[in-house]
Amino acid sequence: MLYFLLCGRHLSDAQAKLFESVLVAGSDHGPRAPSIAAARMAATCGVSFNSAVATGMNMLGDVHGGAVEEAMAILYKTEDNLKHNETAVDDKLTEIFSRKGKLPGFGHQLHDDDPRVSRLYELAGELIETGEITGTYLDILANYRDRLSERKNRKMTINVDGISAAIQCELGVPAEAAKGIFALSRGMGIVAHAYEEMMSGVRIKGPCPNEEHLVRYTGIQKQDGGERA
Ligand SMILES: CC(C)(COP(=O)(O)OP(=O)(O)OC[C@H]1O[C@@H](n2cnc3c(N)ncnc32)[C@H](O)[C@@H]1OP(=O)(O)O)[C@@H](O)C(=O)NCCC(=O)NCCS
Repeated sequence: MLYFLLCGRHLSDAQAKLFESVLVAGSDHGPRAPSIAAARMAATCGVSFNSAVATGMNMLGDVHGGAVEEAMAILYKTEDNLKHNETAVDDKLTEIFSRKGKLPGFGHQLHDDDPRVSRLYELAGELIETGEITGTYLDILANYRDRLSERKNRKMTINVDGISAAIQCELGVPAEAAKGIFALSRGMGIVAHAYEEMMSGVRIKGPCPNEEHLVRYTGIQKQDGGERA
């Protein structure tokens, strides 16, 4: 239904299942994920339930949960560029490195090898075999991973934004809609977490345990060595 409303076309059953897998993969990543943590915190502050959900949603941006949009734009552009420039992947990396940027869809604070990625590659592989997707964007994504790993001299993981981007490119989803789609996906986890936190009865749950030593003053020190108020 989401794809039909957005693109005005129907997916085959297998394609729809693959698209659903993308939504499932992004739905939750535990209480430490910024969008989930923010929603849980909001739920303890006496706001309405929809405000708690919106707080989580509003954490989604280019760095967390929203890298999929730029990743898709890069994959679409690279596919086009590769038709007349076989070094298109390297050229893009050179451009990103020259401005000290990061390649969207790669890297993860918790995973050296994001387990969601191999599973989604596996599921997508079944549709490549039946010809329901071409696999072109999945190949370009893997090429980016290999080239990025070479440049960084370490294994760089594709993250959930990266693999979601490649699959959605395979299905012809517009990049501009990707953040909204991820918000729907993560929205499922946010609703469940916010509800759980709301039911716990905890009030004003801060971003870290309420222990003074965890919050360090880094401003100007007083002459006597003490901290300024
Ligand atoms: C997700 C992210 C914030 C995780 O960062 P992190 O685990 O704290 O990684 P670090 O910032 O410590 O980077 C470690 C090294 O890998 C490099 N690196 C990490 N992600 C990179 C990326 N996407 N592109 C290029 N280099 C990257 C860093 O430059 C750093 O290299 P250095 O040691 O030579 O300085 C980071 O990988 C990123 O910004 N990725 C792009 C945005 C993205 O895809 N977000 C979706 C996350 S699910």
